[in-house]
Amino acid sequence: MSMHPITLKVNGKPHTLLVKSNELLVNVLRDKLFLTGTKYGCGIAECGACTIMKDKRSIMSCLVPAVVADGWEITTSEGLSKGDKLSPVQEAFVDLAAIQCGFCTPGMVVTATALLHENPNPDEDFIRDYLRGNFCRCTGYVAMSKAVLAAAAKMKEEAQ
Ligand code: FES
Ligand code: FES
Repeated sequence: MSMHPITLKVNGKPHTLLVKSNELLVNVLRDKLFLTGTKYGCGIAECGACTIMKDKRSIMSCLVPAVVADGWEITTSEGLSKGDKLSPVQEAFVDLAAIQCGFCTPGMVVTATALLHENPNPDEDFIRDYLRGNFCRCTGYVAMSKAVLAAAAKMKEEAQ
């Protein structure tokens, strides 16, 4: 299998990597950069566990061959916090107990962050619709919607 050099900026940090032509971005993040917050769930764009952000939009990294991501700047769940300070979405998920087994949580908080970039004033219907591509096997959707609403309120308050 041929190897290809790629560059990636992940959570603000540049990386140069050699990847196989059939290697998926999710696996490069997990196995080469050890950013294991990005989960490999279904591998077929059905569950959202592998969600990352590019240009403030959420994308599923199990759908992206790493060679296609050459030159991309991306954010993973690890890049949402600033040092020890959790992002408003992460904090709200913790405060409102919107985490059960935690497997879906990194993808969910990345998608919720993209949601709030797109719409800082979402209502519950918008949130439920936006999160529909992220599956939670523990079915904690009510607490998650409330957490996104709480994060939106906190971000608005902080912006004033
Ligand atoms: S692992 Fe990518 S959507 Fe399920
Ligand atoms: S918290 Fe367990 S899958 Fe969502």
